[in-house]
Amino acid sequence: MLVDDSPIWIRLLHAGGQMRVEPATVAPTDRSALHTPVDGERFRSALSCFASGVAVVTSVDGAGPCGATTTALCSVSDRPPSLLVCLNSSSRTLSGITETGGFVINVLRADREGLGRHFAGKAPDKFADVTWRRSGRFGAPVLAGDVVAHAECAVRQITALADHYIVVGLVLDAWTGGESPLLYYRREFGQFGQFGVSGDPGPADHGGVR
Ligand SMILES: Cc1cc2nc3c(=O)[nH]c(=O)nc-3n(C[C@H](O)[C@H](O)[C@H](O)COP(=O)(O)O)c2cc1C
Repeated sequence: MLVDDSPIWIRLLHAGGQMRVEPATVAPTDRSALHTPVDGERFRSALSCFASGVAVVTSVDGAGPCGATTTALCSVSDRPPSLLVCLNSSSRTLSGITETGGFVINVLRADREGLGRHFAGKAPDKFADVTWRRSGRFGAPVLAGDVVAHAECAVRQITALADHYIVVGLVLDAWTGGESPLLYYRREFGQFGQFGVSGDPGPADHGGVR
């Protein structure tokens, strides 16, 4: 496992039901190879094959609502319900999240590619022509008519890594609809088609932050 820029090999040990972290006893002999990353374009090309949904992560800062299109989003744990999103250090939305301590993830519907592109821009007021309402706890924008799901989160941890920050949030409230999601794959927006997926993960839940 790599920690920061210095490769540190660790092992995880189960001891009395607890997980313990210790230096590994066996590590690669050629440690210099662990400092040489792959070429950036090869990395981006490989990772572009990892298909994902598209979420607009929103928060508020002193100037008002803010939001950014993201794909670097994933579930971390369900006990407690937690997720993470990685944001560039230049992101205004990241500033809003650090100011308020909260954020909302808005998972876009298949026909909302326009919003995905819009929130990838740097317009000063991205919410001027968008229908939204404030979330219950932090007042972060909820794009209720444009999403297949949304969730409101409280920041639990923010970790710097290179030019990004990994934001871990405890999920306070969540809502799921019945539409099909917008996808991102090989640097293009798209939709489920070949699977004939309706996107319906089960009964809709209109409680919570909607
Ligand atoms: C499909 C797509 C996915 C993106 N995913 C991320 C992401 O996961 N993290 C990130 O920091 N920026 C991501 N971006 C770029 C941000 O949306 C962009 O930098 C945006 O302008 C940030 O807005 P802000 O500065 O108002 O927060 C993505 C852009 C696109 C088009």
